[in-house]
Amino acid sequence: MIYAGILAGGTGTRMGISNMPKQFLELGKKPILIHTIEKFLLEPEIEKIVVGVHEDWVSHAEDLVEQYVSAFADKIIITPGGVDRNTTIENIINRINEYKPLTDEDIIVTHDSVRPFITLRIIKDNIRLAKESDAVDTVVEAVDTIVESTNGEYISNIPNRAHYYQGQTPQSFKCLDFLNLYNSLDKEEKQILTDACKIFVIKGKKVALAKGEYSNIKITTVTDLKIAKSMLEDE
Ligand code: CTP
Repeated sequence: MIYAGILAGGTGTRMGISNMPKQFLELGKKPILIHTIEKFLLEPEIEKIVVGVHEDWVSHAEDLVEQYVSAFADKIIITPGGVDRNTTIENIINRINEYKPLTDEDIIVTHDSVRPFITLRIIKDNIRLAKESDAVDTVVEAVDTIVESTNGEYISNIPNRAHYYQGQTPQSFKCLDFLNLYNSLDKEEKQILTDACKIFVIKGKKVALAKGEYSNIKITTVTDLKIAKSMLEDE
């Protein structure tokens, strides 16, 4: 089975809006989270869309599903997220296991709730590549020169830009592979390895690159929200 795991367990501190996490803010006529869910509803191979939200916002998220996508409510599961991204992924996978016991073949396409401009092409590429490799990371070629500074004062290196990419989401992998690798980490490693694909890389697994889009932006700050609103007019 193919599952979507929507990561919506954060509180959006960098957005600087105190009353609600950014994924629930309106973008055009509906919340950002609903835009993201709707993109995954377009992919027929996906069995369930499991959304990990901060525990204080579970009932709010359930209300939004009823209000905006009630016709597809049976395809969507809301579950409490975790203290960090990977714990949210872990909670989502455990919830999938409750829905249907996991098999070695089950794949999860994990995606930031705050990247509402994901395309169906990116989702399909992730599913295809996750079947062929250990994991998949969605990336775009770095556009700016990458400057490395290990002390924050002077440049230590300017690497060849052609070898550098910027990571987006989705990140996709077999559900059980993630659980096994994540549970093999000690507490300190779990705190450092906040990127799911980095866990696969460090453990020597093959992580394929899926082509992202520059438009697949992550809404992090108020400026990003303004950009997203203007992008919506072009959709
Ligand atoms: N996320 C999550 N669970 C967490 C933390 C983050 O599911 N414990 C999700 C966020 O909800 C978001 C995505 O991961 O959709 C990308 O993270 P980021 O943009 O950093 O979101 P926040 O953690 O909410 O933002 P901030 O770092 O500004 O607090």
